[in-house]
Amino acid sequence: PDFGTPPGIGAASVTLTIDGREVTVPEGTSVMRAAREAGGDIPSLCATDSIKSFGSCRMCLVEIEGRKGTPASCTTPVEAGMVVQTQTQRLAKLRRGVMELYISDHPLDCLTCSANNDCELQDTAAEVGLRDVRYGYEGANHLGTKPDLSNPYFLFAPDKCIVCSRCVRACDEVQGTFALTVDGRGFASAISAGTKADDFLSSECVSCGACVQACPTSALMEKSVKQMGKPERSVVTTCAYCGVGCTFRAE
Ligand code: FES
Repeated sequence: PDFGTPPGIGAASVTLTIDGREVTVPEGTSVMRAAREAGGDIPSLCATDSIKSFGSCRMCLVEIEGRKGTPASCTTPVEAGMVVQTQTQRLAKLRRGVMELYISDHPLDCLTCSANNDCELQDTAAEVGLRDVRYGYEGANHLGTKPDLSNPYFLFAPDKCIVCSRCVRACDEVQGTFALTVDGRGFASAISAGTKADDFLSSECVSCGACVQACPTSALMEKSVKQMGKPERSVVTTCAYCGVGCTFRAE
């Protein structure tokens, strides 16, 4: 299943029930996309409209009648007769718990962060109702990491990264460059431009900006945005050169 690309024309139709509403979608549609078709909204961090779903952030968990556990809706294909719940108390608690873990390892500098009010992590934390973080902050994995400033156009701040791998998949699927990867496991996992010893400038990166566009936090950010703030106007294009778009600033 692919949250990003709708199933092809001519796919058979499947009817299921989501939060009490009947919805009919093409076979192969993810439960997340079907929920949106039904007018609902499921929190998500690692799925987008333009890259293949991956199921890593665990924010989009749902309950499906007759199934154990809480599968990720972005990677679960619809089935005929499926009965799905997306907004139960149990799911709300699970999502808050997952978000709490993300925030326990994330700098608490939202008010001074360049992405303040334009950050999907911040928005999703508010959406799931996170108010407190119970875990000690002293051992946070991000402490002491340094930003990679080697690329002339954008920076990479590992402390802001939630390892959702949207940048890695955008690099692969949007640009076809395959310059990025996830290095390490667990707390040691981090986005890398090859190996941990490599920086962006020495990697295969072509500075297209697809990774910056895909980042849900300010881990990957244009240097101009860091220095001057968000542009007044931006245009998203799919032109052959970069596929990211152009921004405009008033003089
Ligand atoms: Fe489904 Fe991240 S949006 S697991």
